Amino acid sequence: MFVSDSILLQRDKFLILMNFEHEIAWENDQVYEEVYRKSIEFPNEFWMQYAQDITWKRVPTLAYDKKKNEWLSDGISNVCYNCVDRHAIETPRKPAIIWHGDEYGERREISYAELQQMVLQIAAILKNRGIKKNDVIGIYMPMIPEALASMLACSRIGAIHLVVFAGFSQEALKYRLTTSNARALLTVTSFRRGGKEISLAKNIPSDLDVDIINLDNVSFPKNAKAEIEWQNSDDDLFILYTSGSSGKPKGVLHSALPYMLYVTATFKVIFGIKSDDVYFCTSDIGWITGHSYTTYAPLFHGLTTVIFSGSPTYPQADRYWEIIEKERVSIFYTAPTAIRSLQMFNKKFVKKYDLSSLRVLGSVGEPINKSAWKWYFENIGNKRCPIMDTWWQTETGGIILAPLRNLNQKPGIAGKPFFGVETDIINGELVIKNKFPGLYKAIIPEFKKADNVLYKTGDEAVYEDSDIKIKGRMDDVINISGHRLGTAEFECAINKVDEVKESAVVAIPDELKGQTAFAYVVLTRPLEKNDCADIVKKIVNSTRNNIGSIAKPDYIAFVPDLPKTRSGKIVRKLLRDIANGNENSADLNSVINSEIIEILKASVKSPIFCPDMCKLK
Ligand code: WTA
Repeated sequence: MFVSDSILLQRDKFLILMNFEHEIAWENDQVYEEVYRKSIEFPNEFWMQYAQDITWKRVPTLAYDKKKNEWLSDGISNVCYNCVDRHAIETPRKPAIIWHGDEYGERREISYAELQQMVLQIAAILKNRGIKKNDVIGIYMPMIPEALASMLACSRIGAIHLVVFAGFSQEALKYRLTTSNARALLTVTSFRRGGKEISLAKNIPSDLDVDIINLDNVSFPKNAKAEIEWQNSDDDLFILYTSGSSGKPKGVLHSALPYMLYVTATFKVIFGIKSDDVYFCTSDIGWITGHSYTTYAPLFHGLTTVIFSGSPTYPQADRYWEIIEKERVSIFYTAPTAIRSLQMFNKKFVKKYDLSSLRVLGSVGEPINKSAWKWYFENIGNKRCPIMDTWWQTETGGIILAPLRNLNQKPGIAGKPFFGVETDIINGELVIKNKFPGLYKAIIPEFKKADNVLYKTGDEAVYEDSDIKIKGRMDDVINISGHRLGTAEFECAINKVDEVKESAVVAIPDELKGQTAFAYVVLTRPLEKNDCADIVKKIVNSTRNNIGSIAKPDYIAFVPDLPKTRSGKIVRKLLRDIANGNENSADLNSVINSEIIEILKASVKSPIFCPDMCKLK
């Protein structure tokens, strides 16, 4: 038996406090301060406390080994074992996953015993295909139980999963599979969302040396067997691509055991979970939230995780509320964009349902504006439920900032660093000053390691009293409906259109999506009246094909030139200010073609609104 009881920890007062009171540790200012102080002073004791929630094959003796720069370096365990097998023994009949589909009443309930079978079958298929430890396996699937089971199956056999959001295009999928050297791809033929059949099969590249495993067509082995691959702290769990400042997305690699520790400790403390919680996170596994808090954290803690593959507004704008009532959901975690879009509909869609099972609400992915916060608090939480506005990133693996879980919260303020994490604001930028187990291991394809002690987040932040308020990205990342995309990725796609000479994309605020993309486009020839719609369509199609349908610029201004420095660099700051109607904050002395500025200012006053233009025949 691999049990955690054998951890020889000093049971001092601090540990006992944490042991018995994780639910209150994040509720009250004084308790928070006390625990935070101790967690920074005694990091080893703090993290080892949470390491006890993990079932170990070999129990680690130290949380962080400075010399090796490794977490849990002598521990041995397996993520799948902790999320599935141990619960299949203890609570086999408890629902692990409850799935809701696109139409009302479409529902599947998968118990922990059934999830274990599903995981074993997928793992056995991978094994039969010769997949070994450390092989990279793509997963291109909708939000169905098999998608979560595929991630867990990879973890079981020590393979590294690479989930590609089902909304990404063939080109985006291809890029991720090739740059990560993926060996196989787990997928299904199609799925239904918003009343439409969406084909994944049409996006599967046929010209790659990747073993395509379509779970609709494979025959599952009877009595499937796949031994657990016990992992140590240097072994990896997944790669997830996200956007940075360059034209190509970067692959963020997370190691298995330290990630598991960070994600499950933050989940336990920040949401104050109870063993009978029914938990519903609306994030797709294509994003980091879908990894950490739809899949791994709730299953690790043996809760029931509710997943939904439909659209929140189809057939009507009540799907989330309907599911919360039906499943008696106690913790609901979603994104501000979803809240804003549902807020626009008549309140009758909410009022119809009994949401009294809710205890805690969550928000993630982008800043939550006051009006959305208030609507969420009053109408969904009925003024009883704290809103955990959690700030974090793909790179951090799990939540870094959240407000305390009580009813004195201030809207839109993420608030406090998690225990054991030292944050600061340097030159307006939020940074993390110490080592914590959630931080990514490396960025691929270069395998650049996260060695520096200071981690710069790229987000602008300010203090409000003792709380941290996030203002937004400082770099060329654009956050559309909580989807993180790089402006350079848009530009690469736009520049592929024959008529385009060059382009620059900046973020502007959008009432519904938080931000949207504004593209300045320089053409190779003067624009003729009749071909405007045609070029706009080409641009929109190119972003759709190269990135995915979530990445369309909403506004285009065709301009004769872009402001440049002597060395030919586009002055983006200036373009951002102009598109946002802000006072200029860039250094104009460096702009060699400053005569362009007035023309740019005039052109952004009446840009082309792409959705309208694309409707024209
Ligand atoms: C933004 C998503 C304000 C932020 C988990 C960050 C937020 C980027 C919040 C990471 C929040 C995420 N308030 N902004 N509560 N949560 N962000 O990697 O700009 O997809 O840097 O991870 O989203 O996006 P990512």
